[in-house]
Amino acid sequence: MVAVFDFGGQYAHLIARRVRELGAKSELVSPDISKKDLKKLSPQVLILSGGPASAYDKNAPKLDKQIYTLGIPILGICYGHQLMAYQLDGKVSSHSRKQFGKEFLKIEKSPLFEGLKNPQIVWFSHGDQVEKLPDGFEIIGSTKSAKIAAMQNLKKNFYGIQFHAEVSHTPDGQKILSNFLFKIAKAKKDWNLKKVRENLVKSLQQSIGTQKVLMALSGGVDSTVAATLLKEAIGSNLHLVFIDSGLLRKYDIADLRNVVKTVGFKNLKIVNAQGIFLNSLKGVIDPEEKRKIIAKLYFSLLEEHAKKIGNIQFLGQGTIYPDRIESAQTSKHADKIKSHHNVTLPKGLKLKIVEPLSDFYKDEVRLLGKILKIPDQFLNRHPFPGPGLGIRILGEVTEERLNILREADEIFISELKSSGIYNKVGQSLAALLPIKSVGVMGDSRTYSYIIALRSVDTTDFMTADWSKIPHEILEKISSRIINEVRGVNRVLYDITQKPPATIEYE
Ligand code: XMP
Repeated sequence: MVAVFDFGGQYAHLIARRVRELGAKSELVSPDISKKDLKKLSPQVLILSGGPASAYDKNAPKLDKQIYTLGIPILGICYGHQLMAYQLDGKVSSHSRKQFGKEFLKIEKSPLFEGLKNPQIVWFSHGDQVEKLPDGFEIIGSTKSAKIAAMQNLKKNFYGIQFHAEVSHTPDGQKILSNFLFKIAKAKKDWNLKKVRENLVKSLQQSIGTQKVLMALSGGVDSTVAATLLKEAIGSNLHLVFIDSGLLRKYDIADLRNVVKTVGFKNLKIVNAQGIFLNSLKGVIDPEEKRKIIAKLYFSLLEEHAKKIGNIQFLGQGTIYPDRIESAQTSKHADKIKSHHNVTLPKGLKLKIVEPLSDFYKDEVRLLGKILKIPDQFLNRHPFPGPGLGIRILGEVTEERLNILREADEIFISELKSSGIYNKVGQSLAALLPIKSVGVMGDSRTYSYIIALRSVDTTDFMTADWSKIPHEILEKISSRIINEVRGVNRVLYDITQKPPATIEYE
């Protein structure tokens, strides 16, 4: 097992995910764990993640120093690299020249960099630096502004890298992790999703027994896969509900009916709640407030429905790992980014929560879906957030804005599908900006809304690059939106990476 110490950076979880992708079992552990408790987990490998703290701060999360004496190979990444240097008596300081984004790393001969070109493109995201090596270490990588960007202690099998090998912006990052895991630390390749599926179904059967579960379907990948697992585990004790909040796209309900028919779900009820949501969102512009209102209403409708069915003990949720990360539920050291719909449960909720996918990342969920024989057309669907178009309309949500956005979104998505691009990109969306700009149509001046289109390439949804959609296709989409959607006179294409931007606009 590979123990990934979670220092609260968003990327801690991504490391665990990457390790599993390479075929080794990984688990997140809290930095507060003692040497004794860690030994009980019998890890073969330790990885210290990045995190927002500074190693030299009094309150920064630290490692039990005894852990360095266990004789287990360690890789420190970003904060983990700095912490290892600091705790082994090197020196770390804040640097005047901050490094964020792409850097060129000049590498030295090291088992960590075996088979790699020199220099390497790597991704930095931290203000601190290792200034003095700890005893027994040597430099194996430097950049223009960070002399000790990578270090090793060959005797102890300790390695530290200042950059994030786990993000897709470091193109050879997986190779570096693989070198560390399998060549240096001799980790076992024994993580396999088929086994995981069997264990999941068994553990769902054990925890639910003969009780009833109510699960909200959305037609999206996560809730479909979660519900299919529950269906396998408890059969007709699974009850499904779909809440039509009115914040849906044009095709969502048709897609849902299609999934239900194909997967063979029974006991589905569609609750029409369009008016209630729109009323509650009147005048609300703050994105976090919108999220909270939507989530509260959503869960109260679910509870109401559960009462109607009677004797429901569990609420099934399609929550996946990144949802929990971004709501800072997985680590006390993380900064909260947003209140994710699935995890913002109302206080006093009477139902117990069952979340079969809460330890998995999106691409793992898709693989599980394949193993469960869910057709590709459903598994390849782009994610659609719980609060729906409510967070794709910036500012106040109104009927007029919803209608405009629905039309624009349908044109965008259907053009991506017909040009074969949809399945090649990670997620595409249209957002309505609540400002108007001047245009000219025919001979008249217009003063209308702006639609932003965003399409990203990503597999983990925690980092993303904007999709390089051919200009002629963008042109066709833009011209169709301007000509066919009343109330829009300008279309923008978003060319921001995540980070620093998120995928949704909110
Ligand atoms: P961001 O905007 O944080 O989004 O880069 C990352 C991924 O999460 C999706 N997302 C959500 N999914 N409930 C969900 O089920 C939510 O509240 C939610 N908010 C964002 C988003 O669409 C993207 O795929």
